Amino acid sequence: MTDLHLPLDRAAGRLSAQIAAGFRAAVRSGRLTAGTRLPSSRDLARDMDVSRGVVVAAYEQLTAEGFLVARRGDGTRIAPLARPDEPPGPASPEPPAAYAADAPQEGAGALTPRPYDLWPGHPDLSSFPRDRWLAAARAALRTLPSDALSYPDPAGVHALRAELAGYLSRVRAAHADPNRLVIMNGVAHGLSALVALLRADGHTTLAVEDPTSVRQLPMLEAGIRVVRVRVDAEGLNVDDLARTGARAVLVTPAHQYPTGVVLSARRRAALIAWARGVHGLIIEDDYDAEFRYDREPVGCLQGVDPDRVVLLGSVSKSLAPALRLGWAVAPPVLAERLRAHRAHTDLGSPVLEQHALAEFIRSGGYDRHLRTMRRRYRARRDALAQAIHEHVPGAMVQGVSAGIHLYVELPPGCDEERVADAAGRAGVAVAGARTMWSPARAGRAAPALVLGYARQSEPRLVKAAELLGQVVAREARG
Ligand SMILES: Cc1ncc(COP(=O)(O)O)c(C=O)c1O
Repeated sequence: MTDLHLPLDRAAGRLSAQIAAGFRAAVRSGRLTAGTRLPSSRDLARDMDVSRGVVVAAYEQLTAEGFLVARRGDGTRIAPLARPDEPPGPASPEPPAAYAADAPQEGAGALTPRPYDLWPGHPDLSSFPRDRWLAAARAALRTLPSDALSYPDPAGVHALRAELAGYLSRVRAAHADPNRLVIMNGVAHGLSALVALLRADGHTTLAVEDPTSVRQLPMLEAGIRVVRVRVDAEGLNVDDLARTGARAVLVTPAHQYPTGVVLSARRRAALIAWARGVHGLIIEDDYDAEFRYDREPVGCLQGVDPDRVVLLGSVSKSLAPALRLGWAVAPPVLAERLRAHRAHTDLGSPVLEQHALAEFIRSGGYDRHLRTMRRRYRARRDALAQAIHEHVPGAMVQGVSAGIHLYVELPPGCDEERVADAAGRAGVAVAGARTMWSPARAGRAAPALVLGYARQSEPRLVKAAELLGQVVAREARG
């Protein structure tokens, strides 16, 4: 099953052990989460072109180890794992955080619910504008002709492309019109599709920032060789990029994930000059770009050179990842190829949701929601940054005032993994930054935590920072 991305080296032997190792790594990295149903041994064996006995042996091994649970009539699923080296967190008077099945993203350590869940990458889902979304969905359904319920234009319904073109031009200074826009199932889908097209054009390499979101790496690596390029205080180092020989790069210029820096004006110009010089392509992941608190958001790169940049965005951080609605804004020829790709692979995105989003934008609901969330997130970021400053001496908050996470460098000498583990035991779920760096740089990177603050109230963020401070102080005492 290709989307499980289980590596298999037939020359290396012990295929069942390799499959088991692939599953363990996927669970530890958060790629496969508790409750996920696995394919039957027969289906997986067929997809991986191995005998069924090989898969049965791997499943049995993993079931014995506690990674999987098998129930008659319910198939085989990823078990709700508690890491064996961790005692349970302390009893807390606070209500435990609702724990989404998809919560783990970056590295291990996030499979146990924590009262203070600062795992990054999630918006405040309790603020989803249910009533207004419902009204938009109802309005769309009431007015849609029956013919609209047939297979859609694989590029996306025109009403949504038109609304998004207007919105992205207005808010992100994009060069957008409906012919350049293709609706995708999120940024992740846009990345996979673009990698397929790059490959078809003869690209063998894609440059990616270092550090980066480890969640997206398997999607990219499944299709192309990925090289990592250092990010510093000005963002991606374009001189280093030029030395890789790649002609395509994936960047997060508005708010680099995870360091939180913004690509400087100098680097933006250098990046575009590089793309023109090598006749290459810049893939711009407009990650959490709606949320800039200290100034007006910097316009997207795509608006600067719409022939060399593809802008990818989604509503995953602005509304909810569950909607799986995103977009690519591309040069018209590439947009047409993305449309053809969808026509050949999946026939397009769900129509009712597209019309609901179009209506939500048209009615002003999206702008209103973003204004509310910007205020809310800003207050949360300020509260957490201030509390870190007060309660975790020696820690440094990096990056600009934006987004839904903080990159916090720990005092020099701290062991990041031990701090993250101990924080978890104290009830605060945090992600260490090390796994987001390439292995070559992970050892030299300053110890750091990535803290998502979107889902916690200010008082809870202050409490979480206090607990983190106690953990770091204990670690410093050794
Ligand atoms: C930096 C970054 N970009 C994009 C994505 C994927 O976003 P989407 O939900 O739009 O597919 C993620 C997901 O975690 C991410 O970390």
